[in-house]
Amino acid sequence: MVLELVNISLRRNGKWILKEINWKVNKGEHWVIFGLNGAGKTALLNVLNAYEYPTKGKITVLGKEFGKAPLAESLRKKIGLVSQSLQQKLHNGDNAFEIVLSGAFASIGLYESPTDEMREKAISLLRELGCYDYANRNYETLSQGERQRVLIGRALMADPELLILDEPTNGLDFLAREMLLESVEKIAKETNGPTIIYVTHHAEEILPEFQHTLLLKQGEVFAAGKTDEMISDHTLSDFFGLDVGVIWKDGRPLLTKNKLTVK
Ligand SMILES: Nc1ncnc2c1ncn2[C@@H]1O[C@H](COP(=O)(O)OP(=O)(O)OP(=O)(O)O)[C@@H](O)[C@H]1O
Ligand SMILES: [Mg+2]
Repeated sequence: MVLELVNISLRRNGKWILKEINWKVNKGEHWVIFGLNGAGKTALLNVLNAYEYPTKGKITVLGKEFGKAPLAESLRKKIGLVSQSLQQKLHNGDNAFEIVLSGAFASIGLYESPTDEMREKAISLLRELGCYDYANRNYETLSQGERQRVLIGRALMADPELLILDEPTNGLDFLAREMLLESVEKIAKETNGPTIIYVTHHAEEILPEFQHTLLLKQGEVFAAGKTDEMISDHTLSDFFGLDVGVIWKDGRPLLTKNKLTVK
């Protein structure tokens, strides 16, 4: 098992942001967390990463129960994270190569001396993700799409067992988005690759490798299970409270809003 959440609730400033979340991810499964703005997706990821401690409940990640004590550094290295908040924390003066390299230490900035092996690994990740051409450029000079690829490289640097992508296609144009999704697909297909949790509010980003989906609504699990059952006309119409249709093309869904009939 990769992670298990039992009755996880999170309260902040007098508001329940997560309510009684029960969720289990097994090895070999890749999951999508799908929900509207403010559903609690990022809050849920913050709990998984131990950036936030749940107010109630029990959480086990990669065989370790936590939630009360700070996450051991050894465990943090096993979780690769790509998120907007991480982007804001990075040192803009670092170049793409240094940012990828810092992933070996799960640190912001390079404080420890990387080994030759780490340097080689960072270079090969930059190549694989198509970032090699701008490896020496300062992070702040990179476009949004280029930055996201560098962040994925950073997240993969320590060979994580769990890779968490929080809206990685934010701000990307169509081509950049599809290129990034191709990289995600490649990682998802690796036999010994990490379990991936992909957070989005765009159904069309759900790749065929993501066979499981958790629908999050107003801090609660609306439903969780097989993607084709979750991303269906019936379930999503209930979820949105709106008559929606799902069209599948090459294993990827496309949402349409059916015309409201005026009686
Ligand atoms: N510290 C806090 N105090 C009060 N409310 C908070 C706090 N942190 C988050 N929230 C609220 O909790 C809800 C869930 O936030 P969260 O960032 O997890 O949403 P999300 O599903 O990631 O949304 P988006 O798709 O917009 O990124 C939001 O209504 C947010 O305003
Ligand atoms: Mg969010």
